Amino acid sequence: MHNDTEEKDGSETETIKQIIDPFSSFPHIATVKPNFYTLPMKRTVRPLFALLLLLVFAATLTSRVVLRRGILSIELEYRVRIRNPPPPQLNDTLLHHAAVEIGEEKFKQEIQNLLDGNFGSHARHRTFVSWRRFIHHDRSGTAANIPATLRSPLFYRYWLDFRKVLHDWFRKRRFQPGIMSELTRSVKLPIDSHNKVVTKGKNRYSSCAVVGNSGILLNRDYGSEIDAHEVVIRLNNARVDHFETKVGKKTSISFMNSNILHLCARRAGCFCHPYGDHVPIVMYICQAVHFLDYTACNASHKAPLLVTDPRFDVLCARIVKYYSLKRFVEESGKGLEKWGGDHDGALFHYSSGMQAVMLALGICDRVSIFGFGKSASAKHHYHTNQKAELHLHDYEAEYAFYRDLVDGHRPIPFLEDRFKVPPVVMYH
Ligand SMILES: *[C@@H]1O[C@H](CO)[C@@H](O)[C@H](O)[C@H]1NC(C)=O
Ligand SMILES: *[C@@H]1O[C@H](CO)[C@@H](O)[C@H](O)[C@H]1NC(C)=O
Repeated sequence: MHNDTEEKDGSETETIKQIIDPFSSFPHIATVKPNFYTLPMKRTVRPLFALLLLLVFAATLTSRVVLRRGILSIELEYRVRIRNPPPPQLNDTLLHHAAVEIGEEKFKQEIQNLLDGNFGSHARHRTFVSWRRFIHHDRSGTAANIPATLRSPLFYRYWLDFRKVLHDWFRKRRFQPGIMSELTRSVKLPIDSHNKVVTKGKNRYSSCAVVGNSGILLNRDYGSEIDAHEVVIRLNNARVDHFETKVGKKTSISFMNSNILHLCARRAGCFCHPYGDHVPIVMYICQAVHFLDYTACNASHKAPLLVTDPRFDVLCARIVKYYSLKRFVEESGKGLEKWGGDHDGALFHYSSGMQAVMLALGICDRVSIFGFGKSASAKHHYHTNQKAELHLHDYEAEYAFYRDLVDGHRPIPFLEDRFKVPPVVMYH
């Protein structure tokens, strides 16, 4: 009888396994199943004997059931663990490499030169538009020799401001992931106070749309959906005129890299406001010399012109580099040390879009991402004819980061556990 039972069990569980058990590589999981109904019951035995028999059976049964419950619960636990695999661990080797700044020494030297008033190679480049503005005012006319113009009183004042701002910025620059929790204070508060919004205890905006500039925006009409967010963040002064049905018309924050302000600095009053001069600008410094433009332009701006905290910059740089290194190793099969050669190591930089998304993670309860990504049929930018992406960015790595945000994959490298990443939705 025992054998019969075993066989019956076996064949039954075979079918059960096929129906409910996707883990057929673990056959032992489904082989335990208590079966009371196969026990013999004779009607002809006398009551007392029957009762005794019952008791014996009951005792046997109980122990079998207990035993099997035990096995079952162990195996259930086992199955639960298989169904929810532990979150992927961050790779220490990648974390370590992502924290190394390849161009660090050169960068320090550059800052020191700027602080010393030694502009070296910068003088030969267009980076000097801001200086030229002042040289122009400064009728002494020694435009070719920049340091000589420092004798001009007007110029000297900006020079002092520039040095102070650059110095403070450089001193603050280090890795400090807790900076995510300070974005409300350093970005949201000044913007709210400019907008005269009362923000009693409201640390985050209820919803934010970050609008990238990808040509994929032309495929859909997301305009009104974008404008329905409490805050709309746009990038690098991309045009909205004539694209309203595609990209919306509301702009709460104009996010840009300092190259954009640098170009604006040539215009009267540093005009850099395609969305209106009441729209606050948040800008990251991509070349330290652009603090010249910042110093020259800050005073003439009605709306806040905020420079991202250098600790926030360092955090963004590390995250993107982690994803870039990971992708590089997985796709090329080459060693990590080869990454720098393939990505212009010292010039490698996160994109404006990436940092704008990071900003949104810090100041919004809900984040929607529009106009990120590419497709063979779409233009690189919706508003320009630029053909290809810039090589100093690794957009694929950034997309991998966004996918992790959207899919809820945690942890995100370099973000603190205690920082709660808000839900992110990506619109294609
Ligand atoms: C981490 O990444 C490195 C480089 O890709 C790889 O060689 C190593 O095996 C990884 N370590 C773990 C534990 O996955
Ligand atoms: C920039 O301008 C604002 C408003 O005029 C001012 O409060 C702020 O201190 C300036 N920033 C710097 C670094 O000078």
